[in-house]
Amino acid sequence: MLSTNNNWWKKEIFYQIYPASFKDSNNDGIGDIRGIIQELPKIHTLGITTIWLSPVYQSPMVDNGYDISDYKAINPMFGTMKDLDELIQKAKDLNIKIIMDLVLNHTSNQHYWFQDAIKNPNSPYRNFYIFKEGKNNLPPNNWRSNFGKGSSWTLVPGENNLYYHHVFSKQQPDLNWENKELRFALYDMINWWLKKGIAGFRIDAITFIKKDQDFASITPDGNDGLGKVKRKAENRPGINVFLNELNEHTFKPANAVTIGEASGVQYDQLDKFIGKKGYFSMIFDFHYADIDVRSGSEWYHQTNWTVQELNEAIIKSQLAIQKYGWGANFLENHDQPRSINKYIKDPAYRNKVGAKALATLFFFLRGCPFIYQGQELGVQNAQRTSIKQFNDISSPDNYYRAIEEGFSAKEALKFVNDRSRDNARLPYPWSNEINDGFNTGHKTWIGLGKHNPQINWHTEDKDETSILNFYRAMIQIRQTSSLNDDLLNGDFIPIKNSTSSVITYQRGQHAQVFVNLSSQAKQIQLPLGKVLLNNYSDLKSEELLPYQAVLIEVKNHG
Ligand code: GLC
Ligand code: CA
Repeated sequence: MLSTNNNWWKKEIFYQIYPASFKDSNNDGIGDIRGIIQELPKIHTLGITTIWLSPVYQSPMVDNGYDISDYKAINPMFGTMKDLDELIQKAKDLNIKIIMDLVLNHTSNQHYWFQDAIKNPNSPYRNFYIFKEGKNNLPPNNWRSNFGKGSSWTLVPGENNLYYHHVFSKQQPDLNWENKELRFALYDMINWWLKKGIAGFRIDAITFIKKDQDFASITPDGNDGLGKVKRKAENRPGINVFLNELNEHTFKPANAVTIGEASGVQYDQLDKFIGKKGYFSMIFDFHYADIDVRSGSEWYHQTNWTVQELNEAIIKSQLAIQKYGWGANFLENHDQPRSINKYIKDPAYRNKVGAKALATLFFFLRGCPFIYQGQELGVQNAQRTSIKQFNDISSPDNYYRAIEEGFSAKEALKFVNDRSRDNARLPYPWSNEINDGFNTGHKTWIGLGKHNPQINWHTEDKDETSILNFYRAMIQIRQTSSLNDDLLNGDFIPIKNSTSSVITYQRGQHAQVFVNLSSQAKQIQLPLGKVLLNNYSDLKSEELLPYQAVLIEVKNHG
């Protein structure tokens, strides 16, 4: 049993919904809030307890809602505030909590604060953003935007030497957190949302809010003469003051759950972020999510990672987080490719067996599991044949940057196919009907994925051996089985084994997990005990089959 009220969220199982691609209730091609309401009873049967809703705020959708033009309004393409209130209520009736996405580093350039600021130098909102004079007909410094290509500065319309700053696209001007008035305007907005009865927030790109105030140029790290903006704007000294203040004025008094998208945080800084007095309940750790690339914003730097490295990265992450706080474990989200394609090297195992092996690996780690829509079905990446077919704003940036760095168009297309954020954003396959059951209309805002006809909710719901039912079983085991206490509260303890492609760990006194992440059978001594989960129908005592994964309940094993 979890003891304190303060961390009620430790037992939650999160499910991320990307609204545009979940369910389209009115056949205009775009998923919407009413679609989510319709499908709530189905999602409820999974056993998840909290929904993380990607942005549904008013937005011109340049970055699919992560460019907000009004924090307190709902984008009409998704529905109305009344729909959202109904969703919160209907979810509550099913004991499901809702958390919203909170974008505090930037707004859309269409936000009235920004529009007023650029039209009028005396605007009360001028100091809400970051304006600087250029130098010698060039931007104020050589920082490169986080989407992979081009400066992080753009000329203010109508000006010839005045620039505004944006870590992300030029349609996402950065807010000036040095300005107290801006900060408190954001806190008011956050408290307004909390009063609506949501349980908390996933907090977008939060480690970018503090920029080095020297705004100095850096040594270039690419052929473009620019340097990654994160070197001067990600988790920089002084950010603690802002994050503390944010927490004190909003989340803490409301006892809200918060998950920071906090890239750039080193393990020895975790105490400040998620310790007893930390700024957030949890943060996402990207160390192994980005194991396939040298940097999450430069997809052309692919790595040749090994299972051994993945294993070491997971152990390191778990032990570091365990020392100070609680983890937010995930395989996928709306910015990541599908996990089956990323983590399963042998295409022959990008199937039920492989999907279940990955599921077992991540789900029982210490912390809260986060499931991204479609992951529970085993949805895979989509392949595209031309850069023109991509919707994601960061895909062309990465494509053209790769070419600039000397790769061929064919190579650049491969990098983008492997990493494009579109992979996660295709319509959810509900059934084998028209448009995969996403709607019954004529169009979808983004092309459907091509996939195995067995991969959809309707088919998998009825198939006992499906990936979907495997997820149901895992959730049930974590929440109510005899291993419940070990899986919730037990320490993470790596189990040593001499087989480099088998990942093994223990939770608490009785739970042991064994996952073979290779396409060969592996000899390994398995413990005696009750097998609670197995992605094959058999289990030998000294061998794991290719991609075999098991959860075993052992007698006291301290
Ligand atoms: C976060 C979001 C991503 C978005 C970016 C800018 O990384 O997850 O989707 O593009 O922030 O808001
Ligand atoms: Ca719709």
